[in-house]
Amino acid sequence: MVGHYPVMLQEVIDALALEGKDIIVDGTFGGGGYTRAILESSNASVIAIDRDPEAIARSQAIKDDFGDRFSITENTFSNIKDVVAEKNIPSVDGIVFDIGVSSFQIDTPERGFSFMHQGDLDMRMSKEGITAKQILEDYSEEQLAVIFKELGEERHSRLIARKIKEHIEEGNEFKTTLDLANFIDRTIKGKKKIHPATRIFQALRIEVNQELEELKSAIDESLKLLNVGGRLVIVSFHSLEDRIVKEKFIEVAGKRKHVNKYQKQKDILPTDKPTYQNLSSRVLVPSDEEVKENVRSRSAKMRIIERIA
Ligand SMILES: C[S@@+](CC[C@H](N)C(=O)[O-])C[C@H]1O[C@@H](n2cnc3c(N)ncnc32)[C@H](O)[C@@H]1O
Repeated sequence: MVGHYPVMLQEVIDALALEGKDIIVDGTFGGGGYTRAILESSNASVIAIDRDPEAIARSQAIKDDFGDRFSITENTFSNIKDVVAEKNIPSVDGIVFDIGVSSFQIDTPERGFSFMHQGDLDMRMSKEGITAKQILEDYSEEQLAVIFKELGEERHSRLIARKIKEHIEEGNEFKTTLDLANFIDRTIKGKKKIHPATRIFQALRIEVNQELEELKSAIDESLKLLNVGGRLVIVSFHSLEDRIVKEKFIEVAGKRKHVNKYQKQKDILPTDKPTYQNLSSRVLVPSDEEVKENVRSRSAKMRIIERIA
């Protein structure tokens, strides 16, 4: 298995503006790519979080290299406030989230994230809670159709949900990733640009790990934890997540207004002094070189917000 290639690494380091910063939270440790780069390129300490026990197990090398400047907690990043509070730290100078699954997770067939490899239909990053297989069995046809449509943006959501439930009612099981992937492939007729299981796997993964709820809570808590001058940097990988980040940043920082020569100054300036400044009114994406080198980076989107008051 190859390691995880940290996506938009230099852009993330630049965005955190580490000069003079003391404490940074890496909310998605993964393979430790961001954490190591932060520790190597600054004097800051890193508080890392990951919900996957296998990610925690991989962190020893960084502990050995950086000692007390590094700590890691197995938890969900929506609990960032408690993780930081446990260290008696009231606020931090930077927070980064690299949302989604790591290559370690996708490339380990037994974790069940990939429809390309045979593995249990699991998909739990934390290795606890409800599995993807249980969701197919426990949710109603209507509930499945809703998650396939809303979390997978799947056009055939109702058909696939109905066929899955019929298959289970006939006494069959979706034990493995390939049981499900091949079943969807047989169910969807016509031309297929991407593997027809792509969107269903995305929907199930988001539901199993409650990824959108996690992201919303994490942004709210992170904004409150930042010191003035501290930045929150989020790299996400699909439009549902990026929309949440974009809308929240606009909500708390306000939209940069387009100024035209007929507007009076008082119409342009916000009446209240804002607490946050959105540093990415345009979303940032990886360079062509990076996408060539690591095709998994192709859908990455990065946004930055700074606490200014
Ligand atoms: C894309 S990887 C991060 C890679 C990392 N930036 C690096 O350079 O190696 C995402 C990691 O975040 C973790 N993760 C995803 N959602 C999480 C959540 N809600 N709470 C905590 N960890 C989460 C996953 O377990 C995975 O290890």
